[in-house]
Amino acid sequence: MCGIVGYVGKRDALDIVVDALRRMEYRGYDSAGVAILDGQGSLAVEKKAGRLENLDKQIAEVGRDSLAGSTGMGHTRWATHGQPTDRNAHPHVSTDHKIAVVHNGIIENYAPLRTELEDAGVEFSSDTDTETAVHLMEREYTVGEHAGDFVAAAYATLRRLEGAFTLVFTHADHPDTIVAARRSTPLVVGVGDGEMFVASDVTAFIEHTRDAVELGQDEVVVITADGYTVTDFDGVVTGGKPFHIDWDLAAAEKGGYDYFMLKEIAEQPAALSDTLLGHLQDGRIVLDEQRLSDQDLRDVDKVFVVACGTAYHAGMIAKYAIEHWTRLPVEVELASEFRYRDPVLDRSTLVVAISQSGETADTLEAVRHAKDQKARVLAICNTNGAQIPRESDAVLYTHAGPEIGVASTKCFLAQIAAAYMVGLALAQAVGTKYQDEVVREFEALEQIPQAVEKVLEQMEPVRDLARQFASSDTVLFLGRHVGYPVALEGALKLKELAYIHAEGFAAGELKHGPIALIEDGLPVIIVMPSPTGRALLHSKMVSNIREIQARGATTIVIAEPDDDAAAAVADHLIPIPATPTLLQPLVSTVPLQVFAATVAQSRGYDVDKPRNLAKSVTVE
Ligand code: M6R
Repeated sequence: MCGIVGYVGKRDALDIVVDALRRMEYRGYDSAGVAILDGQGSLAVEKKAGRLENLDKQIAEVGRDSLAGSTGMGHTRWATHGQPTDRNAHPHVSTDHKIAVVHNGIIENYAPLRTELEDAGVEFSSDTDTETAVHLMEREYTVGEHAGDFVAAAYATLRRLEGAFTLVFTHADHPDTIVAARRSTPLVVGVGDGEMFVASDVTAFIEHTRDAVELGQDEVVVITADGYTVTDFDGVVTGGKPFHIDWDLAAAEKGGYDYFMLKEIAEQPAALSDTLLGHLQDGRIVLDEQRLSDQDLRDVDKVFVVACGTAYHAGMIAKYAIEHWTRLPVEVELASEFRYRDPVLDRSTLVVAISQSGETADTLEAVRHAKDQKARVLAICNTNGAQIPRESDAVLYTHAGPEIGVASTKCFLAQIAAAYMVGLALAQAVGTKYQDEVVREFEALEQIPQAVEKVLEQMEPVRDLARQFASSDTVLFLGRHVGYPVALEGALKLKELAYIHAEGFAAGELKHGPIALIEDGLPVIIVMPSPTGRALLHSKMVSNIREIQARGATTIVIAEPDDDAAAAVADHLIPIPATPTLLQPLVSTVPLQVFAATVAQSRGYDVDKPRNLAKSVTVE
């Protein structure tokens, strides 16, 4: 996600801020900008879409002298609201050009705030949610209860915001002070000698200081060159947690993990919460971009999901939920096959294209084919402004943040959550669910990040198991119902990361052929359906496990903690929290990701860059 840095000190702020942005490039971004205070009441802002080189070029053109000063901030943007363009790049400035703000996250109540501000005569110059914060701040500072008091005006502004955000404010008339706040998105303070930093992560300032302060949820930090004060949103001092950074720079970029993929696995609770954030408004599911009328949605009589690889597995899982909630038929197609088999499409077909990158050639061509046939296309994508969302009639973005590891992890969970929201949006449009039922399903989804957090806390035994089986030639994966695509995903992860022969099967299909593969000691990983949700499936799975155990398989069973029947047939048990059946893939996938990554590491492979693979596949 976005990279943020703020600096107050005695040195040239521009150099420090631009260097920090360069160090945070690994976070992914689509535009960048800086704001520098000259200390005499002026604020200079430069920002540019694209790579940091574009910003460098612009700074060279306007001349570095116009950006002289020892207080400043910078931002690399990963677009959420509004396309990645110059005007949407941060910092955003107040109408009087005194206040600048940079932001990471989503201001959930930006729409009513924007209306309120526009009604009061404010003219917006971007499509971002962020700009509401700077105009609110300007109002608080000029005519609010705390007029003229920069810090108090910032508190008052923050109290009006909902959602997830890290915000950094500067004011040209208060060049010695920066105010920064965090709610659910990252922010750390760097404590230097006569200089202070705020940043999204420690990589931004590790070159200058290794003393840092961690901020808690809903905390604000006010920094000057000589110190910092941490408070809550009401200004009550809370303290902050000082710590010393002992990572080197490379480890810092990966948040202390050895690989981006491991960091991304750990980020899954946040990826899920951020993806869900703001999509239930007044009891209704809302998409990000909708160029379709309500009537278009009501007219849908068939759904196709098109995607590749991991995104295809997310689509397979979503089929169960969408059909269950909408009673509409859903077909899930490999995007690479879709347009070559002449699928039956018309105006009332909804094609849901799922793609992390939004640039996958197979999926893009499937979208184009669907549009040629007059079908409506809805994209689920993690990259704002990518080609697939641009060519689609509606878009729901997954807010997983940049996924750098080639193997998709956090985006998979976010895609499932997004596809479920599409299912609920359709159910509300076609009338198969009452409003309170939609709200209930959404609230159940909102519980899942916590469950994933719990799974992540219990991964050490899974790593041990993975090391134990790291030299296996073959690993099989079994699932039923939504657990079947999870088995496919577990096998894909192991293939692509550890180069081991791995296959996923629907457990009921075993006796129609694959059971011939079972031999003494063969590891088989089983995704156990919940004993409470679909009891029939559960007992059938127990029988399937007995069949393979009788033929010598070593069974590794992922099951709920109270599932005694599963424990009885498990040579190794991996417990996961109990969830409603349709939501189980969001937790049961996690141990499979950890298993695959650990096997790959044990075999000495680079899990971020598996051989022969590219992160985004832009050729057919
Ligand atoms: O960017 P996309 O989601 O369209 O990419 C689709 C697949 O190429 C991708 O999921 C691939 O299968 C991953 N390497 C799996 O980990």
